[in-house]
Amino acid sequence: MTFVITTPLYYVNDKPHLGSTYTTIICDSIARYKRLIGHEVIFITGVDEHGLKIQRTALNKGVDPQTHCDEISNIFKNNWKDWDITFNKFVRTSSSEHESIVREFYSKVKKSDDIYMGVQKGWYCVGCEEFKDNPENSQNFKCPIHLKNLEWKNEENLFFRLSKYQSQIEKLINEPSFIEPKERRNEIINFVSKGLKDFSISRTNLSWGIAVPDTENHTFYVWFDALLGYISAININTNESSLQESIKKGWPADIHIIGKDILRFHAVYWPAMLISAGIEIPKKVFGHGFLTREGQKMGKSLGNVLDPNELLSKYGKDPVRWYLIKDISLGYDGDFQNKRFVDIINNDLANTIGNLLNRTSSMSRKWFDNKVPNNKKSSNTNKLESYSKETVKNYINHFDSYKLDLAANDILDFAIKTNLFLNEKAPWILIKDQSNISTVEDIIYSVLESTRIIGLLLLPILPELSSKIDIQLGSIYMKEVPWNDQLNWGLLKADSILPTPTPIINKLEYE
Ligand code: MSP
Repeated sequence: MTFVITTPLYYVNDKPHLGSTYTTIICDSIARYKRLIGHEVIFITGVDEHGLKIQRTALNKGVDPQTHCDEISNIFKNNWKDWDITFNKFVRTSSSEHESIVREFYSKVKKSDDIYMGVQKGWYCVGCEEFKDNPENSQNFKCPIHLKNLEWKNEENLFFRLSKYQSQIEKLINEPSFIEPKERRNEIINFVSKGLKDFSISRTNLSWGIAVPDTENHTFYVWFDALLGYISAININTNESSLQESIKKGWPADIHIIGKDILRFHAVYWPAMLISAGIEIPKKVFGHGFLTREGQKMGKSLGNVLDPNELLSKYGKDPVRWYLIKDISLGYDGDFQNKRFVDIINNDLANTIGNLLNRTSSMSRKWFDNKVPNNKKSSNTNKLESYSKETVKNYINHFDSYKLDLAANDILDFAIKTNLFLNEKAPWILIKDQSNISTVEDIIYSVLESTRIIGLLLLPILPELSSKIDIQLGSIYMKEVPWNDQLNWGLLKADSILPTPTPIINKLEYE
């Protein structure tokens, strides 16, 4: 079964920031999970290269837009590789394949009689590439997101008849599965209830865009162009780029993961455009929250932007992934705090999971000839098997419903319970009396088996740590056995060799 997941296509006005890194890591984790449970995944990311914002950025740099886009697009692509992001498609909206799909799509919308020429007047935010709703109410005509002055526009544009789709969109957004989380759905329901207005889909006097066929000087509005990137991505870099081919290979997307600021485009404009063109709409739009730093909105002018690459080089991939996935509830705002980051990594990964594995493996090696002990004794002497089953069940439910933080916490809780079990049983005391040997074997076996399952469950969240756990247990993950089958209790082989333990994660220091 194919599963199609997308990140937003990021503007190339600047290199990746913590927000784009966050969305991409979330999508990566979901993509890895879906592959593990047997889906064929098309994980789409890419860049949004047209529009006024990018044209101006290039101009300020003194280079032509294409050169600028080539440079920043490469930075994005390489950056995701540095983070080990397992994307399958990377789309650039300045590619010729994408451009031809936009034109093809436009001709369909035109055929539906949904395009007309009109005059667009209003206050525009170049940062958002969006006309703002109600500028009369804003005191100083500034964008509330970018805190920059809005610009007055008054030009002849082509319009898309969004208003025609009022009732279809109402019906769609009221389906509970379409927009998540539900708080975001309510925002959109409220917006749509005010009545949808047609929106302009072309610009004049903007050369950096895709030319609209049969017009003198119109280029497509950057959002009309960019949203289609999700479809052109599917067949990018093949010689078969046509709407039909892309749709055949993987449309509709199963989920668009985006930030809450761009939900309207994805949950209202985009579905209406697709209905107009006679194309299926995506199955779900998931709007995540915004990240702040130490309680403050991040911004260049505030001088507090947190560079994700600094985090990567200082701490590595997995600590950052753990913080973003486990500590922030997907769909809600989150805060990055350095002290909390250090505490969480040290407590959860180093002290709880790392230490559990290390001490158990050391005991096992010492008492059982560098091996995993026998597990002849029936395991009803301990509770770990039932904890494990419960953990796996909850984790799968949570992952399936995109509650990644809860899935991560399921793993952590299991590790905490396993540590408690070990402390309660105190095998280091029992071993002093040789008549307890089979009880000790059973305890150590069960704890090692729990760490195997913990390692497997970490695979989509912390791939690097998970593979370190695997190595410490003697490389026991089985390529030929489906991942979910490996989550069954009791598969760790008795008498298999345990390598010399080394710490799987380093403790962090406060800054
Ligand atoms: N180019 C459009 C998307 C087009 S999709 C067809 C765009 N690009 S963006 O680069 O400006 O934003 C990308 C994503 O980053 C958005 O989902 C946005 O919500 C997210 N974030 C930007 N700042 C953020 C935080 N501080 N925190 C979390 N995510 C935020 O919009």
